This record gives sequence, structure tokens and C-alpha cells, in this order.
Amino acid sequence: MTSIRTQTADENAATAGAKNTSAPLSKNAHLLNWVEKMANLTKPDAVHWVDGSPEEDEALKAQMVAGGTFTKLNEELWPGCYYARSQPSDVARVEERTFICSLSKDAAGPTNNWEEPYKMRRKLKELFDGSMRGRTMYVLPFSMGPVGSPMSQIGVQLTDSPYVVVNMRIMARIGLPVYAEIDKDYKRVVPCMHSVGAPLDPSQEDVPWPCNKEKYIVHFPETREIWSYGSGYGGNALLGKKCFALRIASNIARDEGWMAEHMLIVGVENPEGEKTYVTAAFPSACGKTNFAMLIPPAGFEGWKVWTVGDDIAWIKPDEKGRLRAINPEAGFFGVAPGTSAKTNPNAMIALSKNSIFTNVALTPEGGVWWEGMTDEPPAECMDWQGNRWTPEIAKETGAKAAHPNARFTAPASQCPTIDPDWENPSGVPINAIIFGGRRATTMPLVYQSFNWSSGVYIGATMGSEMTAAAAGTIGKVRRDPMAMLPFCGYHMGDYFRHWIRMQRSLSETPKIFHVNWFRKDADGKFMWPGFSENMRVLKWIVDRARGRALGKETPIGWMPHYEDIEWNGLDFPKEKFDELQAFDRAAWREEVLGHEELFLDLHDRLPPETIYERELLICRL
Ligand code: OXD
Ligand code: MN
Repeated sequence: MTSIRTQTADENAATAGAKNTSAPLSKNAHLLNWVEKMANLTKPDAVHWVDGSPEEDEALKAQMVAGGTFTKLNEELWPGCYYARSQPSDVARVEERTFICSLSKDAAGPTNNWEEPYKMRRKLKELFDGSMRGRTMYVLPFSMGPVGSPMSQIGVQLTDSPYVVVNMRIMARIGLPVYAEIDKDYKRVVPCMHSVGAPLDPSQEDVPWPCNKEKYIVHFPETREIWSYGSGYGGNALLGKKCFALRIASNIARDEGWMAEHMLIVGVENPEGEKTYVTAAFPSACGKTNFAMLIPPAGFEGWKVWTVGDDIAWIKPDEKGRLRAINPEAGFFGVAPGTSAKTNPNAMIALSKNSIFTNVALTPEGGVWWEGMTDEPPAECMDWQGNRWTPEIAKETGAKAAHPNARFTAPASQCPTIDPDWENPSGVPINAIIFGGRRATTMPLVYQSFNWSSGVYIGATMGSEMTAAAAGTIGKVRRDPMAMLPFCGYHMGDYFRHWIRMQRSLSETPKIFHVNWFRKDADGKFMWPGFSENMRVLKWIVDRARGRALGKETPIGWMPHYEDIEWNGLDFPKEKFDELQAFDRAAWREEVLGHEELFLDLHDRLPPETIYERELLICRL
């Protein structure tokens, strides 16, 4: 096993404070100065410049196995896979500890936590002072989007978590090719500071999952900086994802005239070989990964759905005024529970090797398991907290083998349906945008907005029942505009205005739709089978976007007649479809009142179009 390469501090003035420092892999003076400054602040024992090589990855994983953070899974069953358990207090994004520290409170808006930036900087300086003592600080350069694409952005994360380094190696492009970009010196680099906040005394033994009770996930939008303290988990710690690709990127995108969205991207290919790309925004843990890897059902022979991304889309008008999108990520950080060979066979193949599992259950054979993975649970396993778990214990106590927000980190390239164009530096052309939430009532299976501004209103007023992806009350409907409530890095009213304005730069406007796979009948049962069958809805969307499907006008938008949906291969009676699509006037009156919940807070910054769209909707009701 290759060990992590280090050199002594004397050989490297750039990180004079650290005892062992690997040779800097960049010549960029700003980067060298910043690394030195941060090493002096955080006082790590060593500094390691991440080259992104497989040898380095192996060595880090071996080190984590030795330290108890990782368990190597059975190589025969799960080649190249590793397993980690977090601290039970560090299992999800912490929205209440997430801050947008713009110069003015108003710029962050009422949907974000704000703190005065100078005060926050003082606090962070205190927190990071010596926070990496006894640890190695990794210098991790990453590109969000293909290296060298004009649509990509570069960051450097300084982190004391090797778990973060090996996860980021899957989730982003990292290492030498990124230093080469940085050294070209014309691309702005977003500095991302991260510490788990658990310094070690010389005599102190490390724990498998170091973290701190106190957590701060902080963004400075004007200076494009991220500071994350206290957590080693997912969106709190893999800073390229939510912090950069959504919160900071939404600020960059507003300033530069593009969009950073919480959206999957798929390409729908029909039997004639025509491909139509669609993006879709659903709140966290509402099936974006499943939809991104959809396999068309029986009756759709010759159709294919290609995966470009499952979580984030960066969307820009091209020189002809058409929107094109890239997936800034290189991997999937998916919710494991509920993922199975039935619900998402493509994800199961993607995660079958070279993947990392966090907070799932560990089987006696050295494999992993989670609720919903198989019909039959294993006779026994170790749960996500390391306790013995059996189906009998679960029946008695309700204990889950896997945490509901347990995750897999899997390379996107391993997905069987990965689109041949997924790394196209110019992105893929977008014809339709879908919004959707998890709603037991009110929202029909599918409808299309009348035009761009009514579509923006639909996105702006989206609601969804809360899930385990964030700490909070599960099941409560919360307004989650464009699925961006936790991720928009500035005032939500300005964000709506940006959406409205985007149309002006377009020669062709994508069509906007709303879907809801989760409507329930009077007995509380889901009315729509979902999963593969969502293809029927997707086909109508594609055909509408291409201007060749019919629909009927309703007070909320265009809806398909029963006959407008392709039913080949599914026995779904017209009466059931009508119930699923039902427009309930009384429920919609309530719904509009629900829109007010958020609009009241945003009212002084709402673009006039949202006010007019609301009025028009009320008139139609
Ligand atoms: C995610 C989330 O991890 O939205 O993608 O929480
Ligand atoms: Mn997400």
C-alpha cells in the first residue's frame, strides 16, 4: 500500500506551521498564500496536497480502515467499496446552522439565516484557530463540471477529513488537472474551508467519526467563500455540492445571467432516435435519483431515458439563445433506503463497486443493506449505530437498520444509462423544466403552465412534505420554491425575479410542468404506481414540449386527457386517472392561501409577475 507522501516543513515555506508537508502541487501565488495562512490558523500536524491519483485514494482508505472510520466491504460482493458510520448527531444537513453572510441582511432575505459578516468572521476565526491540531490538512482542488468546460467552476477545499477527500474524489473532478487549470490563473477559485472541529492532543486517540456539537455552515456570497465547521456529513462537508454548486453558484449565476438549480437532467430518446433533454426540480429525498435513472416500462419498447445528472443543473443560454445544462457533479450522493433492483436498478449497478456507504447496515458477510433494498431483510446485521439488528428487534422496537438519510456515494460513470453527452463541455439543450413535490392531496399527477411566468409562479409556490434529508418535522408541508429553499444563496424574491428575467435572454423558452407522484386516495393509498410508469407522464411532457401532444385547459394549467397519455402496457382505468388529475376547487383555495405563507415574507422583493400570476389564478378559481 502506498503511504501518503509528505515532506518536511523546511522544504516548503508555503505551509511553515505544519510538521509534515507534501510539496505544493500548484504555483499559483494566491493559492499558496491562502494555504499558508489557513495552516497558520488551523495548525495541522501535516499538510497534504491532493493529487487525485488512485494510489493516494487507496492509501487514504487504508488509513481510514486502520483508524476505524472505514470498514472495507467484502471484495467479492462489493468490489472497491467502503462503509462508514457517522456520529448519531451528524446525519443530515443542518439548515438552522447554515448561514448566508451577505453584507446586508436584506440581500440574504428572510428564507436564509443571516449573520453580520464581520461578526461571523470573528467567530469563525475563533473556531478554526487550532481546529486541525493533531490532524492533516488536505488541499483538495476540485472542478464542478468537466475540467476546462466554459460552464465549469473551480474550488479548493481545505479539510481535515480524509473521508471528505475520498468522497469528493467521486463527487467532483479533483487533483492534478484542476491545479493545471488554477495555474492558468484566469479562473476564479472559490476557497472552501472545512474542519470537523475535533483537534487532537498528542496523547489523545482519534474516534472513527470526529465532529463537533457546534456546527456552522457559512457562505460569504460577495467574496464567494465557504466556511464549514463541526460536521463531516454530506452536504455540510462535501463543499462542492450544496454550498458551492447551489448557494455560491446561485449568486454567481444571478450576476452572470445563468441558473444554478437543484435539478436532475435526463435525455429522453424516442424510437426514432430523437432526444429531448428535460430538467426536474424536486425537494431532497423525493425521488430525483430514481427519476434520473428511469427505465421505461412495458409498452415503451424502443424508448430510452439517459442520465445526465441526479441533483444539480447549471443552465446557461448559448449564443443562439437556447438553454443548455451541465451536471456540475461527477457522482451520485443518493439516499440509500428505498433504493433497490426494483425501484432503481441503474442506481444499484452504479453503486455496486467503487462506492462508499454511510449509515446503512452492515451484514455478517461484509455487505451492506438498507430498508427497501430487498423484500427479505437479512436475518441479522449491524445497524447504522453499530448495534445488533434483526427483523424481530425491528418489529418490537421499530429500530431501523439504516438511518433514513443513509447515503451511497457512487461514480456517475458507472451508471448504465449515463448519457454519452454527460461530460459535453457545452452541456445539453433543455426543452422542458419540471417542478414537483411530495403532496398527498390537491396536486394532480401532471399539468403544464400556460407560459414562462405562470411556470415561474408554479415553481415559486411549490410545496412538499418534509423528508429526512434535513433535520426537521417529517411529513409537514413546507413551501420549497423550485426545491431551492435550503439552497438559494440570496433573497428568494430576487431569485424569482432572476427566473422571470432569464426569459429575456432566450430565443426559445423551455416549457414548464408540475408533477406529483405522491397523491393519495381516501384510504391513504398512493394513486399512481410511480417509478417506471412515470415514463407515461414524461412522454406527454416531451410531446408537449415538442408541440405535438394535446391537452385541455384548466384553471391551473394544461392537463392531459386520458387519451393523451400512452397507456400501452398498463391497465389504469379512466375513472382512476380522472381522480388522480382532479382539480379540486376548494382545495385550491386553501392552496393559494398556503402560497401567501411565503409570499408575505417576500412581498417587498417579489417581481410583479408573481403578483399578477397569483391574481390571475385567483380569478380562474
Ligand atoms: C441532497 C439533498 O443531498 O438535497 O441532495 O439533501
Ligand atoms: Mn439534493
